[in-house]
Amino acid sequence: MVRDAAKETIPLLTRYKMGHLELSHRVVLAPLTRCRSYGQVPQPHAAAYYSQRATSGGLLISEATDVSPTAQGYPETPGIWTHEQVEAWKPIVDAVHRKGAFFICQIWHVGRASTNEFQPDGQAPISSTDKQISPDPESGMVYSKPRRLRTEEIPGIVDDFRRAARNAIEAGFDGVEIHGAHGYLLEQFMKDGTNDDRDDEYGGSLENRCRFAVEVVDAVVHEVGARRVGVRLSPFVDFLDCVDSDPLALGEYMVQQLNRHEGLLYCHMVEPRMANVDGRRQIPHRLLPFRKAFNGTFIAAGGYDREEGNKVVGDHYTDLVAYGRLFLANPDLPRRFELGAPLNKYNRSTFITQDPVVGYTDYPFYEDNNHV
Ligand SMILES: Cc1cc2nc3c(=O)[nH]c(=O)nc-3n(C[C@H](O)[C@H](O)[C@H](O)COP(=O)(O)O)c2cc1C
Repeated sequence: MVRDAAKETIPLLTRYKMGHLELSHRVVLAPLTRCRSYGQVPQPHAAAYYSQRATSGGLLISEATDVSPTAQGYPETPGIWTHEQVEAWKPIVDAVHRKGAFFICQIWHVGRASTNEFQPDGQAPISSTDKQISPDPESGMVYSKPRRLRTEEIPGIVDDFRRAARNAIEAGFDGVEIHGAHGYLLEQFMKDGTNDDRDDEYGGSLENRCRFAVEVVDAVVHEVGARRVGVRLSPFVDFLDCVDSDPLALGEYMVQQLNRHEGLLYCHMVEPRMANVDGRRQIPHRLLPFRKAFNGTFIAAGGYDREEGNKVVGDHYTDLVAYGRLFLANPDLPRRFELGAPLNKYNRSTFITQDPVVGYTDYPFYEDNNHV
């Protein structure tokens, strides 16, 4: 049984014009690393996975995609620096476009969130710092000790992002999202907890710490045009030991820098961890100052469901809402929201495996099993 509310127009399912892209609804697929790109080459099963989640006028953001051989920190993540990788992305992007959806490629470098095994010739992963991430007792994950990047090496990495963006457009993507969130390379530079001992122009003041990320944004905008560039940031998140003493100032500074680029596609921000308020887990809703300061489309992510998503779009707290785990487990999430239908539960144990089907393309569609 679906709710009586079925098919009523809910805020999440209203149209929205994001730059030159005419979106038919506001339910965005958040970037989700799935580790199924063997040898760092995207595989045909990704076409099935993404096109399952594509709707006419919907917006999908790809899993984080490595910009270079040193960018990798997890098994079988896709890359976008070789011709072979670009060619392998093409049919995947085509499959999404055939459904009428728009597809953005998230480009990243993990920095110190890596191990020697993932690095060319077993070298040390690179970072703002030579401090290692403390081992995670839950996952048992131990990252290798990183090597602090020399000042003169930074332009080369900016160039890796630029080339990755160029390649993403060549592969047919509608744009790129620069991954400046979650404790990976760009954030390692931005936050003072992980960038506390550099004395060059990439360390010290807030402006200096953000310089690398800003240079990446500028280079990518220059390469593919502001209307094709989104940026993801998470000033409040403390993932991978990456914390800042003043996340509000950090976020506001970065938003100002993004505002220099007229027509930038979007700013995508992640909420702080869920908080327990009156015995209930609640989204902290701390992104409002950034939403207000940013001149373009704003995407919020982190813990949203149908009710919370409708509320924040209805309140103009955000323009779009990105869904991670719920979209992972519900390929037809916008349709389920439309119907007020129950959701499949996600299975955490298959989030990150190399299986081409299980936990990937085998989550059921609501209407295959129910008459509506
Ligand atoms: C399996 C998994 C993989 C993820 N991979 C990425 C990623 O590649 N890039 C990224 O920016 N965030 C990644 N995230 C974070 C999600 O995009 C999202 O911000 C997070 O899951 C919170 O949203 P949710 O509560 O809707 O799941 C990942 C999350 C999960 C669960």
